[in-house]
Amino acid sequence: MAVTSELAGQLALVTGASRGIGRATAIQLAQRGAHIIALARTSGALEELDDEIKALGQPDGATLVPLDLADHDALDRLGRSIYDRWGKLDMLVGNAGILGPITPVSHITPKNWDALLAVNVTANWRLIRSLEPLLKQAKPGGRAIFVSSSAATKTKPYWGGYSMSKAALESIVKVWAAENSTTALRINLFNPGGTRTEMRAAAMPGEDPSQLPTPEQVAAFMLPYLMPDCAVSGELITFKA
Ligand SMILES: NC(=O)c1ccc[n+]([C@@H]2O[C@H](COP(=O)([O-])OP(=O)(O)OC[C@H]3O[C@@H](n4cnc5c(N)ncnc54)[C@H](OP(=O)(O)O)[C@@H]3O)[C@@H](O)[C@H]2O)c1
Repeated sequence: MAVTSELAGQLALVTGASRGIGRATAIQLAQRGAHIIALARTSGALEELDDEIKALGQPDGATLVPLDLADHDALDRLGRSIYDRWGKLDMLVGNAGILGPITPVSHITPKNWDALLAVNVTANWRLIRSLEPLLKQAKPGGRAIFVSSSAATKTKPYWGGYSMSKAALESIVKVWAAENSTTALRINLFNPGGTRTEMRAAAMPGEDPSQLPTPEQVAAFMLPYLMPDCAVSGELITFKA
């Protein structure tokens, strides 16, 4: 795709930017001129993303944040660093997530339960808490989107841990959006549906991945909700091929 400048001067934090849907979203925002703050644990993959963004014609590349979202206090420090350097944040893509074990509810270990809550729920709330003041400094207004799943509302046996985490995420994001219905913030949820990523392959090992939409297709569908002219807020947007 040709590089454009419609998001020049705009700043986007993308969690889970090392692979899958988050990486594709980071690239597509960078293709439109946004500066990307790319968060994930895998430094090598973040460095490859940085190289790809430089190759798009952004000589400064991305700002890489190699950290574990379960380190919640680090998210406060991240907010402080963004404030000190830029004084605002235009886009927040709360994409990172973990699947946890596909197992009966009674077999979920406390460790797995806590990890699902820490990464899929608490980290997103801590980001909201840390970054809301910065999103409110964005012009015309900050845009936030959080990646959920149909598992949030479907009753899928053995998917209990993941389902409860996405249901909790949807609940807190909808309330935050309602609280901001009269502000310039645009806050939405996105359900990508089955997408050709590592997480999907782990969840559905027998499936033919070539039949699934790519992360690039899914990211392109999400993009309008991150643009400055996004008019909707408080919605759950579902990918359609
Ligand atoms: N793929 C699907 O079919 C599907 C369907 C519905 C919803 N979703 C949702 O879509 C989102 C993206 O999923 P995906 O399919 O792209 O998954 P993926 O390929 O497994 O990528 C997950 C991303 O999250 C990051 N991540 C995971 N745990 C982290 C942690 N503790 N700290 C920081 N980063 C962490 C990973 O980076 P590191 O490992 O480098 O940290 C990676 O960049 C998730 O929220 C998922 O629940 C996916």
